[in-house]
Amino acid sequence: LWNFIVTVSSCAGVCVSLPAPSNVSISSFNMEHTLRFLPGLDTPSDTHFTVQIFSFRRNVWRPVAACSQLTAGQPCNLTREFKNPFFHYQARVQAYTATQTSPWTVSGQFQPLSDTVLGPPEVSVSGCGNCLLLHIRVPTTWGQLKDFYRGLILHVQRTRDGVQFTLSVPYKEEHMIAYLQPGVEYCVSVSVTSLSNTNPVSSQPHCAFTSPPPSRSSLHVVFGLLAAFCALGFLVTGLVIYGGQLSYELLRQCLPRTLVTDPTVCAGT
Ligand SMILES: *[C@@H]1O[C@H](CO)[C@@H](O)[C@H](O)[C@H]1NC(C)=O
Ligand SMILES: *[C@@H]1O[C@H](CO)[C@@H](O)[C@H](O)[C@H]1NC(C)=O
Repeated sequence: LWNFIVTVSSCAGVCVSLPAPSNVSISSFNMEHTLRFLPGLDTPSDTHFTVQIFSFRRNVWRPVAACSQLTAGQPCNLTREFKNPFFHYQARVQAYTATQTSPWTVSGQFQPLSDTVLGPPEVSVSGCGNCLLLHIRVPTTWGQLKDFYRGLILHVQRTRDGVQFTLSVPYKEEHMIAYLQPGVEYCVSVSVTSLSNTNPVSSQPHCAFTSPPPSRSSLHVVFGLLAAFCALGFLVTGLVIYGGQLSYELLRQCLPRTLVTDPTVCAGT
C-alpha cells in the first residue's frame, strides 16, 4: 500500500496519463528502415514523441537521438540504428508533453536481412543470336546485403504467343539465356533473392529480339519491289488511258468528216 501511495504521489511531477501511441511498425525497402506510428486517440496537439531501440544482442533500450522530438505521424529513419543485418531489433515510441508522458508502445521484432523488401534490380536486355544477354545492377543501398543475396529468378516470356518459363540461377551481373528462337522478341523480368529473404520485388518486363527480326531488312526490299510494281502499274494504266484518249480524239476528229466524205480519208490521217 505504501508503495502505491508513493507511486501516485509521484504523479505530481511527470504522470503517465497521455494516450500511448498506436500502430508502431517498422518497414524496410532496399535496406532502408523506417519506423511509423500513430498518436493515440485524443492526444493533445502539442504532444511530441520519442523513440528507443532494443537490440537483442545488447539487451538494452537506448534512445535514438534523431527521433527524440517527433511530431504526430512523423516517421523515424532507423537505417543507421539497425546496422547489423543479422541482429534482431525492436523499437518503441512514447508520447510526451512538458508535464506528462504516455506508456511505451513496442513494435514487432525486426531483422534487416529477412524483413527488408528487395526492390527490383536495374535490368537491360539485348539479343545475341539465339540468346539474350542480361545486364543486372542492384541498388547501391543494398550495401552489405550484396554479400548475402545469391539468386536470380528470371521470368522469360515470348511476346508472340505468351509461352513462358522461369529460370532460377546464381546471382551474376551478366547472364545469358540460351537456346531461344532467333529473330523473335522475348520479355524478361528479374528478381533477386537473398539467403533468408522472401520478399523480392520483380522488375518490369524488359523486351528484346534475340536477333534482328526478318522484318527490318527484308521488309525494305519487299516494300521497294512493291513500290516498283505500283509505279509500273500506274505507268501502264496511264499509257492505256492516254492511248485511249488519243484514239478517241482521232475518232472525234475523223467522225464529222467521215460522215460527209469518204471514210478512206480518215484512215490516212
Ligand atoms: C492500426 O492498427 C489497428 C489494429 O492493429 C488496425 O485495425 C488499423 O487499421 C491500423 N490503422 C492504420 C491507419 O494503419
Ligand atoms: C535514412 O537514412 C539513410 C542513412 O543515413 C539515408 O541514406 C536515407 O536517405 C534516409 N532516408 C530518408 C527517407 O531520409
